[in-house]
Amino acid sequence: MNPPSEIRVLGIESSCDETACAVVAGGQTVLAQVVASQIDVHRRFGGVVPELASRAHIEAMNTVLEDTLCQADLGREEIDAIAVTHEPGLIGSLLVGLMAAKTLAWVWDKPLVGVNHIAAHAYAANLDAEPVVYPAVALIASGGHTALYQCKSPTEMDLLGSTIDDAAGEAYDKVSSILGLGYPGGPVVDRTAGEGDPSAVDLPRSLLKGQSLDFSFSGLKTAVLYHVQGVPGARSDSDRAGVELTPQTVADIAASFQQAVVDTLMIKIRRALQATGAGSVILGGGVAANGGLRRAAAQLAEKQGLRLYRPAMAYCTDNAAMIAGLGFHLLQAGKSDDLDLSATATVRR
Ligand code: KG4
Ligand code: ZN
Repeated sequence: MNPPSEIRVLGIESSCDETACAVVAGGQTVLAQVVASQIDVHRRFGGVVPELASRAHIEAMNTVLEDTLCQADLGREEIDAIAVTHEPGLIGSLLVGLMAAKTLAWVWDKPLVGVNHIAAHAYAANLDAEPVVYPAVALIASGGHTALYQCKSPTEMDLLGSTIDDAAGEAYDKVSSILGLGYPGGPVVDRTAGEGDPSAVDLPRSLLKGQSLDFSFSGLKTAVLYHVQGVPGARSDSDRAGVELTPQTVADIAASFQQAVVDTLMIKIRRALQATGAGSVILGGGVAANGGLRRAAAQLAEKQGLRLYRPAMAYCTDNAAMIAGLGFHLLQAGKSDDLDLSATATVRR
């Protein structure tokens, strides 16, 4: 039996629009990782089309798997276990990865472990980095989820609050479309925000009353829409008219929107820290790649003497290294699954 640091887990991720495989040693060292993005498939629809996503996963899976093993320079006998995302996500997409994982586990005779995608995002900051010191507050903000968790260890987390409508990444994608910046919206709005004035447009910050740890981004998105296209039925001509989109107005709106999102996320992180007494903060999910959020979190950590864990960019958005990494810890905790492991679209935890 290999020592724990040499246990190699093959991870498979297909919950949304990325087909990904990775091999991780000891839950931490990424030996190989390959991500086939479907952005080009979904771009013209302005969002992920579930049926197309499942089909694209089927087409990409074998190649991604072979490339990963080739990159790691490993054969089947050098893989110790298979970890796979089985919840939450698009059901057809999840099933493709799950079926691939079950097939390998059966044919190669390896343990299979099902991994929760959100818990894996909260684990991602451990990859190729110093291990997280727990307990920690984790903010997971992506295209499908925005939630705060209290993490006691990589495998134990309790939900503190989540979005009651849009996810933060979803708001980025919709605002990008309103501003004519394209899909996916996060990276381009983030870049464009750097050229604008964050106080140019007065935009709302929602759910700040009381001590709520839930989020709401749909009002902010609508406020941007009204600012750009005008408020239907408004009294004044200027409110009805909206604004002309020039490079400068687009940059100012992007910057003001980003400031509103980051302010909201940071207020909630501070509340969660107060409520839990945790001394560590973890960022995870695609929005954790956001420059404004990363800077604001670093400032908070510096001011309050907190440990801050921000995954490397490649481990913020969907990837299989985070699945393999967390899979290792689940296996170490004695958890593994049978070949009847099922996929679940929505899980509140
Ligand atoms: O974690 P992820 O790859 O997929 C889900 O699990 O949803 O996150 C994708 C989301 C998209 O909505 C994308 O616009 C957003 O993350 N995103 C960003 C940035 N990079 C990606 N949002 C804000 N700023 C970024 N730099
Ligand atoms: Zn994700």
